[in-house]
Amino acid sequence: MSVNVKVFEKAAKALPADFFDSPPLCGLILGSGWGDALSSERPIAEISYSDIPGMGASTVVGHAGKMALLMRYGVRIVACFGRRHWYEGAGWEPVILPVELMRRMGVKNLLVTNAAGGINSRLKPGAFMVLRDHINTVGNNPLVGPVVPGWGPRFPDQSEVYDESLIALLRQAACDVGTTLTEGVYAFTSGPVFETPAEIRAYAGMGADAVGMSTVPETTLASACGIQTAGLSCITNMAAGISGPHLCHEEVLAETEKATPVMSALVDAFLLRLASGYLMAAQGKGKVKRVKGKGK
Ligand code: HPA
Repeated sequence: MSVNVKVFEKAAKALPADFFDSPPLCGLILGSGWGDALSSERPIAEISYSDIPGMGASTVVGHAGKMALLMRYGVRIVACFGRRHWYEGAGWEPVILPVELMRRMGVKNLLVTNAAGGINSRLKPGAFMVLRDHINTVGNNPLVGPVVPGWGPRFPDQSEVYDESLIALLRQAACDVGTTLTEGVYAFTSGPVFETPAEIRAYAGMGADAVGMSTVPETTLASACGIQTAGLSCITNMAAGISGPHLCHEEVLAETEKATPVMSALVDAFLLRLASGYLMAAQGKGKVKRVKGKGK
């Protein structure tokens, strides 16, 4: 099943014009619990997913559904609170629409966050993993189909999906908030079933450190489009067969809730580092003045 480009046109037209005024420095796709740092910020503009044609409200408990344009630390940020998943069965369009809309806005940096199961024994519930690489176990991705203008070449290079400089900023942000960040490989599964213990042993053998049902469609497309991309997981449980007999979404939500203060502090510290670096570089070149805005 390939994407329908007409859906993207309609979606872009539905967004308030402010989103396209000038390119946001950073896009964020925030899984459950990750959006708290920004949810109190008064947006310049916002739109509910259900008002974006082709997007639609998330069917998953714990996933809010809105896109907001914000000022944070003197720069424009576009934040997606909640996401659609491949397992919801609505095709790739709603899953990757946030990235496509950000591409059209001219977003240069993207941070995608999620909850994941720990495979590596160093990644216990409450730990954070920055994605060094991923394994797509689904055997499908949103670029299957005709070449979409703006989505890079027919065969995009994926040898460095996760940008080194953004990984470094996330490492610094983790130090700023006093938490540890482990680098690792994320295995993307289709869901909605959790994995079997045999699958987890297989993914461990393939080099995966954590497993989850999201993120890779978005980061695959973003990197193909030339957007500097980073991924961040909060480990909410040990993967199937590693500890405990059962897995459930409620456990994931409960662990996410516990970790929320650190998750939001981490996102905020990352934005501060990114914005400061950008503003210092821009002022150094004497080209861009600090942007005035409503936020901090
Ligand atoms: N498997 C897949 N997705 C997940 C998990 C898991 O164990 N935990 C949180 N999301």
